Amino acid sequence: MSLLIRGGTVVTHEQSFRADVYCVDGKIAAIGENLDVPADAEVVDAGGQLLMPGGIDPHTHMQLPFMGTVAKDDFESGTAAGLAGGTTSIIDFVIPAPQQSLLEAYHQWRGWAEKSVADYSFHVAITWWDDSVREEMGELVSKYGVNSFKHFMAYKNAIMATDDILVESFSRCLELGAIPTVHAENGELVYHLQQQILAKGITGPEGHPQSRPPVVEGEASNRAISIANTLGAPIYLVHVSAEESVDAIRYAQNNGQHVFGECLAGHLVLDDSVYQDSDWGRAAAHVMSPPFRPKGHQDALWKGLQAGTLHTTATDHCAFCSEQKAAGKDDFTKIPNGTAGVEERLSVLWQKGVNSGKLTPNEFVAITSTNTAKIFNVFPQKGAIAVGSDADLVVWDPAGTKTLSADTHMSNIDFNIFEGMQVTGIPTTTVANGKVAWQEGELKAKAGDGQYFNRPAYASYYDALKKRNELAAPAAVKRG
Ligand code: URP
Ligand code: ZN
Ligand code: ZN
Repeated sequence: MSLLIRGGTVVTHEQSFRADVYCVDGKIAAIGENLDVPADAEVVDAGGQLLMPGGIDPHTHMQLPFMGTVAKDDFESGTAAGLAGGTTSIIDFVIPAPQQSLLEAYHQWRGWAEKSVADYSFHVAITWWDDSVREEMGELVSKYGVNSFKHFMAYKNAIMATDDILVESFSRCLELGAIPTVHAENGELVYHLQQQILAKGITGPEGHPQSRPPVVEGEASNRAISIANTLGAPIYLVHVSAEESVDAIRYAQNNGQHVFGECLAGHLVLDDSVYQDSDWGRAAAHVMSPPFRPKGHQDALWKGLQAGTLHTTATDHCAFCSEQKAAGKDDFTKIPNGTAGVEERLSVLWQKGVNSGKLTPNEFVAITSTNTAKIFNVFPQKGAIAVGSDADLVVWDPAGTKTLSADTHMSNIDFNIFEGMQVTGIPTTTVANGKVAWQEGELKAKAGDGQYFNRPAYASYYDALKKRNELAAPAAVKRG
């Protein structure tokens, strides 16, 4: 099984050059001009187009059981939507119920994901703590290729990780060579504000951002970063949406701490005016956490990406349809939190990032693919165009145009948060594991074509970190 992608300009995170790319048995076998390939190789013509590493979305929730319902996009429809947008891999989340065995939950999610059409891996959430959790974290790292653990600092009375759990789990992550990640919002404050706002008689979606103001995120970001710093652990903040968090990350980085930041395509381009929509359904469709912010925060996120303070972009794809959102008709705290975007991420970032001059095409590759592969230790298997790398590629037409819409998207839901956005810069062919997986609107990959990928513990990085901790302990950041 071989495939030649001919005539394109290869764009990686560090360079752009004219080359054909030849793929054999799922891997990149040769890169160059006038390659000598067998006559029966399948050919994709990328003339006049760019060839980039397939997108990696480090934050999705396919088929997530959440807030009394289950996200509509399952692993098949969700990964298909990804392929349609040039994303060839996702890192989803196993979220054990409190008291549930981590391994049991992990196997449950692995079962659900077998029908994926594109590659997938899993972060595992730490939603409770005892010795068995500690043990199972070790097993997940050593046997199952999990090198990241997620902590929800919000969602009180459900999956919230309190400070004692953060301390235990971050310490264990450091021992294991795994990276702790956090959803940074102060769950106690969110709960308190929700009750206050409901008591005032505010029950509609406009109450959602009021109950989760930027300061609530900023507090949690600072706390998580401080805990990680005290323990000498690195930390990755998911869906950074507030300027306060960007400032906290930059401050810690400037003091030598290893802090990584992710932001979402949605937070980069939408603002909190969506919650004032007079149509309840449209406002509720935007309920996700953290919420969309006042416009000024977008600027901070873009600058964070440009400066390298933020490293990755994701979607937090967690798709709920209008019927599911209607569960919160009389109480905004019951609207299932989540929005989609796995299909639109690359085009939205190209349109608003590259076409506006904020990002170079190479920076685009870094923040949509390579940085994620590096942070989660799958580079250069993924996130690269190099001999031996997985042949996960997107042929990108920088002049192709499209209007994003729920009428044409692949996702299983009836709403698109980017509805009506005109983008210039679209995928024309997506190659996954060396095969044409999606082309010109047609899905070619089948359920089960996606493979689980292991993310091994990052031994060399953690050995260096531990040495640094021994030499400099404790590395507490001091102000002034
Ligand atoms: O609103 C969101 N983001 N839903 C998914 C769960 C999470 O917080 O990431
Ligand atoms: Zn979250
Ligand atoms: Zn999420």
